[in-house]
Amino acid sequence: MLIKKPEDFKYSEITPKNVYLNRRNFIAAAGMVGVGLAATKLIPDMLSPETNALGGTKLQFTKSDLSTKGEELTPYKDITSYNNFYEFGTHKDEPAIEAKNFKTSPWTVSIEGLVKKPQKLDLASIMKVSPLEERVYRMRCVEGWSMVIPWIGIPLNAIIKAAEPTPKAKYVAFQTLLDPKQMPGQREEILNWPYIEGLRLDEAMHPLTILAVGLHGETLPNQDGAPIRLVVPWKYGFKGIKSIVKISLVEKQPPTAWNVLAPSEYGFYSNVNPDVDHPRWSQATERRIGEFRRRKTLMFNGYADQVAKLYSGMDLTRNY
Ligand code: MTE
Repeated sequence: MLIKKPEDFKYSEITPKNVYLNRRNFIAAAGMVGVGLAATKLIPDMLSPETNALGGTKLQFTKSDLSTKGEELTPYKDITSYNNFYEFGTHKDEPAIEAKNFKTSPWTVSIEGLVKKPQKLDLASIMKVSPLEERVYRMRCVEGWSMVIPWIGIPLNAIIKAAEPTPKAKYVAFQTLLDPKQMPGQREEILNWPYIEGLRLDEAMHPLTILAVGLHGETLPNQDGAPIRLVVPWKYGFKGIKSIVKISLVEKQPPTAWNVLAPSEYGFYSNVNPDVDHPRWSQATERRIGEFRRRKTLMFNGYADQVAKLYSGMDLTRNY
């Protein structure tokens, strides 16, 4: 993301490559169909520690009214073969290959800090906090490309409420797994590992903010942030921290991976804003993966009606 500016991308890098279907996941998915489990749907209670994190396992969910309508969905193969996940390489096609054997089960997420009820939840418990919903969201990467993704997840606010934040809690800090043995990128000084992100508490509690465990009806493939990742549709994609192990409620604005590395390029807020250029390129337009034309980028990625009020009175050219 920091390495190149959009004009430097070769066409071959913008065109999605073939899906690298994880053989293990493929077998798992095929197995599910084979035993005819509830018309290939799987309910969270049936997830065993050994199966709950495999991409390609069907999920049961309801469709949310908060989904974005009237947009063509980006195909599964594009969403899963054109990724940023620097723990598994800095090229878009690397995470699909390098994360193939990443072990995402067993997995626990710790919810801690300024809360009355700290929690350590496995994936099945997280899915019981709130029923799984499908949320179709436009996603805009700071590099100038975008996708429309049918995420499956739960509102982050359900998890936070269950932990009962104390009145001192003002921000939420997130952390990715630190495991250089499994994550080759963490053996290099690319970022200050582990990847960290943060939101203001009201942003985290906003109904549009979700923790995703799947996409296109199935559990997340490793390269997309398995087993659980953040999705905040009005912010640039890098806010969507992947493979989360810790969520801390804190008093002060927490550091974030890209802001620590390049504060003049990546701010804490990182709201999609066509009027605030990246110091090295314009943010006025974007290319939807699968299209050639450039589209105009929308303020707050098109979610201004729902989220602009969170920032009333703030100078968004300074709080970028
Ligand atoms: N989370 C972790 N842990 N590591 C990363 O390198 N990359 C971010 C974000 N989350 C990243 C991450 C960036 S730059 C983007 S654009 C999105 O993930 C990309 O998500 P996608 O590959 O699923 O589209």
